[in-house]
Amino acid sequence: MRSRANFKTHPIHPMLIPFPIAFIVGAFAFDLAGLLGGGTAWWTTGGFLNIGALITGPLAGLFGFIDYLYTVPPRSSAKKRATNHGVINVAALAVLGSAWFFRDGSTWEPGWAAVGLETAAVGLVMWGGWLGGTLSFRNQIGVDHRYANAGKWAEISVDPKPGQAVTVAKSDELEVDQMKLIRLPDGKRLVLARAESGYAVFDDRCPHKGGSLAGGLMTCGTVTCPWHGSQFSVTDGAVKAGPAHSPIGTYRVEQSDGEVRLML
Ligand code: FES
Repeated sequence: MRSRANFKTHPIHPMLIPFPIAFIVGAFAFDLAGLLGGGTAWWTTGGFLNIGALITGPLAGLFGFIDYLYTVPPRSSAKKRATNHGVINVAALAVLGSAWFFRDGSTWEPGWAAVGLETAAVGLVMWGGWLGGTLSFRNQIGVDHRYANAGKWAEISVDPKPGQAVTVAKSDELEVDQMKLIRLPDGKRLVLARAESGYAVFDDRCPHKGGSLAGGLMTCGTVTCPWHGSQFSVTDGAVKAGPAHSPIGTYRVEQSDGEVRLML
């Protein structure tokens, strides 16, 4: 079995987020300690930690935004959660940055208003972090969905014209029970799957809460959603198990000249 490496497994965003979290909490703690009697060395450290958060926060956010665009499934509960996650974390950095207006320009001594704003930034980043954790643990964003014979992650972007067939894979590209994500220009996503009976194409979006079926499990002509386990027939889209009630859309696919072609 080949290893599964895909856009869900790149570690850059989760590798970077501990830095701004630590710096924000550290800035608050050192500034508070400085005001409570620690003095210059403490609030100078707090100032540098504040700067560290303002540098590493946007960097972590940049990779989070890439995840937001390409990994989080569109029109899903995770997309709403990821939107809130991003807005709250940006707000945390803005509040933290505004604390500089209440810090002495030459000694860096913070006023109580600065510590108050840093307290708010800590609260916001904890809230944003809780949402980020939910995106990982519940929505499995960034999780490797490996299963038996899953194969290497595959995806393709195509721009099909109505009534014309568009090539989406070589005939021997997928083994039975492997899938490939198809990205369309309007942001819509489909899945090419190989079942024992041949190739099938269906919606990537689970009708329950928008989970990505390409990131699910495919076996015996059935695809299982990774979020809550709904199961669908890949050939006619029928629901085989809930919680989803609605079927998924299926599309015409044909093989010729060693290629698999999609008709929309
Ligand atoms: S999103 Fe809930 S089962 Fe698919």
